[in-house]
Amino acid sequence: MEKEVKKISIAVIKRLPKYHRYLGELIQKDVEKISSRKLSEMMGLTASQIRQDLNNFGGFGQQGYGYNVKDLYREISKILGLHNKYNFVIIGAGNLGQAIANYHGFSEKGFHLKGIFDINPKIIGMKIHEVQVMDIDKLEEFIYTENIDIAVICVPKENAQEVADRLNKTNIKGIWNFAPVDLKVRKDTVLEQVHLSDSLLTLSYKINEKLLQERQEKIRQRRDIPGHPLKSIKT
Ligand code: NAI
Repeated sequence: MEKEVKKISIAVIKRLPKYHRYLGELIQKDVEKISSRKLSEMMGLTASQIRQDLNNFGGFGQQGYGYNVKDLYREISKILGLHNKYNFVIIGAGNLGQAIANYHGFSEKGFHLKGIFDINPKIIGMKIHEVQVMDIDKLEEFIYTENIDIAVICVPKENAQEVADRLNKTNIKGIWNFAPVDLKVRKDTVLEQVHLSDSLLTLSYKINEKLLQERQEKIRQRRDIPGHPLKSIKT
């Protein structure tokens, strides 16, 4: 009988890939068990946060023993659905589409690239990482005949919704969208948007915040120098 699916909060789900990555690295280093304290030091989370998160998946931690790395990795893989195999297609064989097609890491995790589609006749027929670029007109038929689960959208933002509209008429399970636009998709299709520039702007914010702190620190230090003009200024 199937185990009942336990609801896990989005905040915890967002941390799962990170746990998965770190535990995978520990397995490669033949580490069999790890304490929440050690794991917290590695991952930059607090030990209590880790205990709380991992309590969601059944009592893997044992007092005085820590976590069994392989068991925990297996359980997190299961929650992430990585015991399934996924077939995916890339739509848009430009810079980003080609980079994703050339990346080996996805197949190791069970994501298999089956086809690449484009609208440009100069690109159609080309092979990227052993996979042929096909005419976008063949998309729908290919999704049905090859049992495609996921479509990766790598077309310019102006064309992204028209691609999504085509996908909305198929039985695709998930869309991984890299175009900087919020797509409208069918209710039963899972949509994951990747806004790379949002992440870049967050980086910019953090750098700027650090620069401001350093500048304030410099002003504070100058103010402490006897006779310095800033000495008399109070903030
Ligand atoms: P690109 O211009 O190199 O490639 C886009 C490809 O989509 C072209 O080959 C074009 O022929 C194809 N295409 C256009 N309309 C189509 C349609 N209706 N059906 C099928 N194929 C179609 O663009 P690039 O740089 O690869 O970017 C792709 C998307 O990813 C854009 O939305 C961009 O904003 C986004 N993105 C790209 C990043 C990058 O590092 N290249 C970074 C962040 C976002």
